[in-house]
Amino acid sequence: MSTVRDIRCWALQDQRQSLIVAAHGTDMAEVIYWGPRLPDGTDLEMLVAAAHMDVTGGMLDAVPPLSICPEARRSFPGQPGLSLTNSAGEALLPRFTFERVEEDDQTLTLLYHDAKNGLRYRARFDLTLATGMIRATASLTSEQPVSVNWLSAPVFPAPQNSHEMIDFHGRWIGEFQTSHTPWSVGARLRDNPTGRTGHEHFPGLIVPCTGATNSQGSAYAFHYGWSGGHKMLAEELPDGRRQIQWGHATGSRRSPGTQFETAPLYAVFSDKGINGCAIAFQRYLRDEIVQPPAPARPRPVHYNCWEAVYFDHDHATLCDIASRAAALGAERFVLDDGWFGRRDDDTTSLGDWSIDRRKYPDGLMPLINHVHAEGMTFGIWFEPEMINRESDLFRAHPDWVLGDPDQVLGRQQMVLNIALPDVQDYLYDRVAAILADHPIDYVKWDHNRVLPEPDSAQAEAIYVLFDRLRADFPTVEFESCSSGGGRIDFGILSRTHRVWLSDSNDPLERLRIQHEAALFLPMVVTGSHVGPRKCHTSGRVTDIRLRAWAAAQRHMGFEMDPRELTEEEADVLRQVTRWWKGNRHWTERADILRLDSDDPAVIAELQRAEDGSRFVAFAGLSAASAQILPRPLRLTGLEPGTLYEISLLNRDDAPGLSRGSPLLKTETARLSGQYLMHQGITLPWTFPQSIWVIEGTRL
Ligand code: GLA
Repeated sequence: MSTVRDIRCWALQDQRQSLIVAAHGTDMAEVIYWGPRLPDGTDLEMLVAAAHMDVTGGMLDAVPPLSICPEARRSFPGQPGLSLTNSAGEALLPRFTFERVEEDDQTLTLLYHDAKNGLRYRARFDLTLATGMIRATASLTSEQPVSVNWLSAPVFPAPQNSHEMIDFHGRWIGEFQTSHTPWSVGARLRDNPTGRTGHEHFPGLIVPCTGATNSQGSAYAFHYGWSGGHKMLAEELPDGRRQIQWGHATGSRRSPGTQFETAPLYAVFSDKGINGCAIAFQRYLRDEIVQPPAPARPRPVHYNCWEAVYFDHDHATLCDIASRAAALGAERFVLDDGWFGRRDDDTTSLGDWSIDRRKYPDGLMPLINHVHAEGMTFGIWFEPEMINRESDLFRAHPDWVLGDPDQVLGRQQMVLNIALPDVQDYLYDRVAAILADHPIDYVKWDHNRVLPEPDSAQAEAIYVLFDRLRADFPTVEFESCSSGGGRIDFGILSRTHRVWLSDSNDPLERLRIQHEAALFLPMVVTGSHVGPRKCHTSGRVTDIRLRAWAAAQRHMGFEMDPRELTEEEADVLRQVTRWWKGNRHWTERADILRLDSDDPAVIAELQRAEDGSRFVAFAGLSAASAQILPRPLRLTGLEPGTLYEISLLNRDDAPGLSRGSPLLKTETARLSGQYLMHQGITLPWTFPQSIWVIEGTRL
């Protein structure tokens, strides 16, 4: 810190960036610079002076600061960072004064006090050197109980040289769709009242600077690590400045209290294109957030029986399927919905977590033993937070339901009020009993409807329940599923180990969803399964090659009924699975770089080994191209002056209509990184709805 001319300045810096925070006197600090690393010895007070803005007619006589918590009390011309009322329901307009700072090389904590209202505000920034990720949280304490309607994580300015922001919407079987919104005066507001992260509201934002692409230019990106529904506000003020606020959804903090904290806001700057942000999120999530029970163990190939049998569980059939899955290469068998209560369809039994003796007269052990004999581990499905009216649990405890008795049901079910200690204990006991009595190493934890009303206590309670179960069953892995990708965020992922990205096993949908999700998610946490020949959610029939390679881009699994596979299909699947297993020792730690395809029909990515020594690129042709021949595929993230050996792994898939002889159809190529990134790879012609897999090795 330095304090000259009554200015306080603090800097958090690594090789990629400088984040400079400064304040006049005892005012709330503001981020005055965030971007490429400034030269050593930069005069920070000079930065403050240099950034001082003019005033003109029709304005106040000074420009109110766009601070880390903009205060309505200081004439701030936009949305404030905090909105609260006292116990009489009166709005409080705090005015904070600087109290103290705690700082070291990687952490900056600023503390403020509002004596009149009995409030303390704290903002904390943590910089992780390995990734350049900034984790920012804000907290508020009050001497008297207050109601907090809005508490923003520390507020960041958005760049001026940016034309648009990119945030995310989506739906069931259509997660991670992007919305591009041009900046203009006023606010873009994403307020998610559903009580879960949601397909509709993935809490992420990319702010590319003008001209940025996946592979070049500057970009900023944000993720709010919270599973209970967030609010994002990206606002351009009338004076041209821009601010970005993140916090819990409006009104979701239901109870008055004296202590409030935001979830962590993860913020990253990149001068290496949007991929630079993506790599930071992927690595940070993998290395700092997810805590696998056995970090060194390779990710096993999954088999999940949902789309093979649905609720129709029959011991002999499941054993047959398990044996076939193992023969294809599966290493973990996950028994999905339908094993408990009297669950023959989705109208009944959620809450009754005891084995259905009609389907499993001798319990689950005979199936588990069979799965083990086939060399696989055993996983099981739960949806603990939910209850059906048609259940013993509901008959015994109708009062355990969250929301009104006459609420609209979702998938025939209601949500349990898991913030009630009795409900927590019941669920802990039921899940723990099954885990304690069986050799189970995996739980697919589902959450198939939104909350009937916003309530942040539910997300807090689910974190507690996960923490208890993980402490007592440290070898069990958990998957976060929520009708596919309805609960994906860094909050849930600090308690779980994999996400079910989407209920869509359609490889074409998957290519797109995986492509966008890679902005935040690394391969190791992203479940992707080979689905049935005719997709159950799109009706589309696709070739096994496309299905297998789309799944092999992430944490691979199978979800079709293996009895439907022809000999040839089984053969392809075995081969691709063998490739996946033979490469996972490096792909699990690879960076996923999204390629800027020059053909809108091509969705392509490159997975680059941590040490840069090799890569694999996938180029999926989602539809017929407008032009006749493939446009060269430009790679990224390579060393320009280095030679790479390139081969087309699946060149035998070239159809007869590819009549020419491009080099890669028969040979390997030796090309420089410069050529590969500037000119690109010339691929053979192929059918729409197929995929090329290109391997590269640094020479
Ligand atoms: C959700 C999940 C599916 C499956 C079903 C079971 O829809 O996303 O993968 O587990 O529930 O009911």
